[in-house]
Amino acid sequence: MQNHFQTLLEQAKEEIEAGDSPAQLEALRVKYLGKKGALSQGLSQMGKLPHEERKKIGAVANQVKAAVEALLERAMQRAEEAALKASLKGPKLDISLPGRLCRQGHRHPVSQTMDDIVDIFVGMGFEVADGPEVELGWYNFEALNFLENHPARDMQDSFYVSPEGFGENAPPMVLRTHTSPVQIRAMQASPPPLRAIMPGRVYRRDFDITHTPMFHQVEGLFVDTHVSMADLKGTLNAFVRAFFGESVKTRFRASYFPFTEPSAEVDIGCVICQGTGCRVCKMSGWLEILGAGMVHPNVFSASGYNPQEVTGFAFGMGIERTAMLRYGLGDLRALFENDVRFLAQF
Ligand code: DAH
Repeated sequence: MQNHFQTLLEQAKEEIEAGDSPAQLEALRVKYLGKKGALSQGLSQMGKLPHEERKKIGAVANQVKAAVEALLERAMQRAEEAALKASLKGPKLDISLPGRLCRQGHRHPVSQTMDDIVDIFVGMGFEVADGPEVELGWYNFEALNFLENHPARDMQDSFYVSPEGFGENAPPMVLRTHTSPVQIRAMQASPPPLRAIMPGRVYRRDFDITHTPMFHQVEGLFVDTHVSMADLKGTLNAFVRAFFGESVKTRFRASYFPFTEPSAEVDIGCVICQGTGCRVCKMSGWLEILGAGMVHPNVFSASGYNPQEVTGFAFGMGIERTAMLRYGLGDLRALFENDVRFLAQF
């Protein structure tokens, strides 16, 4: 029996010394020391031996076990070192290649322009208001004093929608063609005095280099007891200076809108040529940036305000157009093509 264990040790020593990979050595560990390994099997025979003999052989078996364990540990260390050396000799890892850049996004130029415009008016005490994009025809037209046959009501310009489930008597609805209906909703929602700035999307059946079917506007409304055209001019001049720069000039031209009387269009000195004349301003030296005027009495009446008691001014401007002027863009459609190479410039 003692010889059996001695032979086992000899054999294990030989095989372990020949083993040169961690996997091979693990297999040998199982072979000799595992639950069903050679050593366990030898020990299971010991029951048959007399007591004295068993004690002696037990001690030998433990020595053999410890010796095999030590042999395996040393061999394992050797094999791991060898494996590491071999891997260092292999092809080198090139860590000098540049990593993949994680590009940071930013707000869309239209959103940036809209936020900047809104911020300037908020700074002057205006509150932000909004209304629905799918709007009742009444808010988009009638309440704003559009006469029955006004060309803006033509199917050419407006996207009409027919609300499902209302049947024959469905009220006419449109994708709002401007942000002006929000004026009516703001006045219905709170009594005067009122100062509101109203940004949002609007829709028209138009598509060329200066028009897209969806675009953005900002509407402004100021109502109180003695608001005058001078307040309108002062407010818009302050806005132009804050947005386009201190030295930029403005010009108010008489115009017509159904919902204001008197009405005006506001031009700024061309930001491209500083007024000397260029392609962008069509040699006029001026660029139109917004429509404005004194709120028409009919608009007050439609909104539940008393035109005998209050006066007010309103204005509206296109965001994309303003962004084009600010960034000197040639084709407005580029703003909506979502080409990152274009957008990344802003
Ligand atoms: N709603 C007009 C448009 O879309 C712009 C406008 C003009 C708004 C004059 C106003 C205003 O509030 O007073 O062309």
